[in-house]
Amino acid sequence: MISTTRPTFAIERTKKSRIKDIDFNDLEFGKYISDHMLVADFVNNKWQVPKIVPFGDIPMSPAMLSLHYGQSVFEGMKAFRNKDNDICIFRPQKHSERLNKSLVRMCMPEIPEELFMQSVHAIVETERDWIPTSEGASLYIRPIVFAFEPRLRVKLSDHFKFIILTSPAGAYFSSPTRLKVEKTFVRAAEGGTGFAKCAGNYGGAFYPNQIARQEGFDQVLWTDAKEHKYIDEVGVMNIMFVIDGKLITPKLTSAILDGITRDSILKLAPALGMTVEEKRISIDEIEEGFKKGTLTEAFGTGTAAVVSPVASINIDGVEYKLSEPGPQSFQQRVKQKLNNIRLGFEPDVYGWNYIINV
Ligand code: COI
Repeated sequence: MISTTRPTFAIERTKKSRIKDIDFNDLEFGKYISDHMLVADFVNNKWQVPKIVPFGDIPMSPAMLSLHYGQSVFEGMKAFRNKDNDICIFRPQKHSERLNKSLVRMCMPEIPEELFMQSVHAIVETERDWIPTSEGASLYIRPIVFAFEPRLRVKLSDHFKFIILTSPAGAYFSSPTRLKVEKTFVRAAEGGTGFAKCAGNYGGAFYPNQIARQEGFDQVLWTDAKEHKYIDEVGVMNIMFVIDGKLITPKLTSAILDGITRDSILKLAPALGMTVEEKRISIDEIEEGFKKGTLTEAFGTGTAAVVSPVASINIDGVEYKLSEPGPQSFQQRVKQKLNNIRLGFEPDVYGWNYIINV
């Protein structure tokens, strides 16, 4: 969709841009934040008109409720310069929908889609010079909503902040990931907050991931909380397998994030001749696939991770290795297709791209 209206939020421009300090050929994910941010407050039961201000610290009370009781949710999406040099933001409406699902689960005020879209448009247009053009890089967009009221009582906040930061970013993983199937710790149980993009899901994952890292792995592969028998996700990305020539991924539950890259890949797969199956996947099935040689690919999918090859999966101490995916692998082909759509080299038949002509 091509944007027709231009947001008119007030912009206070920075007096000193930091853009010249950035090496756009060496963009470590999440290291650099662009010059401005968008800020809006929810007060008097209503989202107020956002403003764009220079990126910087915000005064806050140490009694701010989100610090104590964790009412904080976020999103992650990406903007690119396409082949015509227009700005393309990938599936912002879908991110708006998911943000609102997270907000509802955390008992926080939803952001109307129109306000969200205008906000994303406004900050990306303001920061257009920060959109990298090198291969694999993008402007990562990080909306965050958090409880701002200072109060120690366990209560719902009366004041929330909605902030959007942007960050020129390269690849999230620099090499194929080594995963360890986690059977001790739990990321999320059914009925919990696993499907929501709330801060606590990530905070609780640090410790098990740190242990995995000390053991030589990159990330844990989470299993279901009840039996540790079925695969859930990786935490910073969803997981997909090619088994017997079929694309297989865990069926969504309330414990799994409804990844937008996951959804995009499932929709693109048939056009690449790939049959898709979303189902409960047991660890036994994965192990059998490795032993029989029918499991030929495993990869993570996510906004930050895009399509990230898996190098190995450790199941109960046994390391199952995968060879690096070649150009004919499904994961490479689908990643290429996704990029082609975002950059305008292939038709956007699903209407995923939000285009700004500047
Ligand atoms: C994303 O893919 O956008 C994420 O939020 C994952 C991670 C960087 C937290």
